Amino acid sequence: EVWNPNGKYRVVSTKPMPGTRWINLLIEQDCRVEICTQKKTILSVEDILALIGDKCDGVIGQLTEDWGETLFSALSRAGGKAFSNMAVGYNNVDVNAANKYGVAVGNTPGVLTETTAELAASLSVAAARRIVEADEFMRAGLYDGWLPHLFVGNLLKGQTVGVIGAGRIGSAYARMMVEGFKMNLIYYDIYQATRLEKFVTAYGQFLKANGEQPVTWKRASSMDEVLREADLISLHPVLDKTTYHLINKESLATMKKEAILVNCSRGPVIDEVALVEHLRENPMFRVGLDVFEDEPYMKPGLAEMKNAIVVPHIASASKWTREGMATLAALNVLAYLFQSYERSESRE
Ligand code: DGY
Repeated sequence: EVWNPNGKYRVVSTKPMPGTRWINLLIEQDCRVEICTQKKTILSVEDILALIGDKCDGVIGQLTEDWGETLFSALSRAGGKAFSNMAVGYNNVDVNAANKYGVAVGNTPGVLTETTAELAASLSVAAARRIVEADEFMRAGLYDGWLPHLFVGNLLKGQTVGVIGAGRIGSAYARMMVEGFKMNLIYYDIYQATRLEKFVTAYGQFLKANGEQPVTWKRASSMDEVLREADLISLHPVLDKTTYHLINKESLATMKKEAILVNCSRGPVIDEVALVEHLRENPMFRVGLDVFEDEPYMKPGLAEMKNAIVVPHIASASKWTREGMATLAALNVLAYLFQSYERSESRE
């Protein structure tokens, strides 16, 4: 699909993206916008090489693509100066390779903070109250009347929520769980989450003033402290060498037998084989997963586990957010494109 065929700058999007604002922004700046409409969900390096072609000024790509040496050198040869991932995470992008070939790299933070936190909160509640299992039970026609033991789950109020990685998304999630469900907070991050701490303190004082049990917070000195103490744990680190398999056989064994684990960050943060084994051995342990180690696949056994809720990487999937991500990606490309053109013009 091609928009503004006579535009001066050729910008390629490897996928159709929501809304039209991003297309208009590019057209207004004299870009020819080419959108790949291939049916295939995940494009290979070869597919993207073909899209880049001989002349390409900028590319908007997706988290499913492998943006390394091969693609950045090709983009640079085609005259490209700008690349934006339509995602906040950029573990699929080799930033060093981009630097080496003079291509600026952008991502799309901010617009997906609350949306992602809302999904983590939804998975937390769904796992605590066994909503998916109960839904399947109803649809299977198995409900034959109210019973005292039917789908008994966990009450979140008064329990402790553990947040690993209290950046933008982790902090937004923590606020939702503390304020919405009156949970106590324990978090682990190398940085102090000062605003989050202030929020929980103020909210605790408000509850106390109203005669309610105040909520508390604690900054853990190690991740293990969170794993040991929390009843519900949500993972929000970036994926890099230090967080690969952060949750493994040993760390799973550290958690409470009836704990809930939620992951809306990146799949490889959890050793999924160890997780399946842990779920099998501990039927009261529950997980809510938005991301998987080898997307789009799940490790054998995971799909059969009743104590797992699995959704297909949809944490940022609200209309407003996805349009915002597309818009930001286009703005990134424009910013880098014009910055570099200005620079080259002033040199001439
Ligand atoms: C991201 O942006 O990194 C999410 O995984 C998809 O929205």
